[in-house]
Amino acid sequence: MNTSKLLALGIAAAIAVSSSSAMAASKGAKLFKKKCGTCHSMEVGKHKIGPSLAGIIGRKAGSTDFKKYKALKGSEIVWDEKSLDAWITNPKKFIGKPTAMTVKVKKEKDRKLIIGFLKGE
Ligand code: HEC
Repeated sequence: MNTSKLLALGIAAAIAVSSSSAMAASKGAKLFKKKCGTCHSMEVGKHKIGPSLAGIIGRKAGSTDFKKYKALKGSEIVWDEKSLDAWITNPKKFIGKPTAMTVKVKKEKDRKLIIGFLKGE
């Protein structure tokens, strides 16, 4: 194969990869809007029924100035992909107490897309 063909293939592959991750990102954003957006915003300091989720990865649970934390108040959890996955699978089960966060995301694929969105992917 000559160099220009190889180059063309490389470019095609790069486009395929970047457009598929862009697609995952917009899917994640859509899912977030549908399943989480009523209660959460991604804007710093903008709380709705639930706290703002800006910068959630690496943030200590229950640590914003949101006034209505219940189960997460005083929690020692620091949010990472694993704990977020468990939380949105079944919040009550994960935290072991009743919580106003009642949504359960059953599909692993959807949880991955949502967490990807939260990470800003
Ligand atoms: C019905 C409203 C509601 C929906 C829908 C909802 N949440 Fe929540 N969420 C809350 C509330 C209320 C809290 C605070 C829980 C507590 O302290 O008991 C919370 C807390 C959280 C936290 C912890 C925030 C912190 O500051 O520690 C994360 C992360 C979170 N939600 C993610 C999500 C994601 C992702 C979705 C969508 C899959 C979602 N939530 C859907 C109401 C909701």
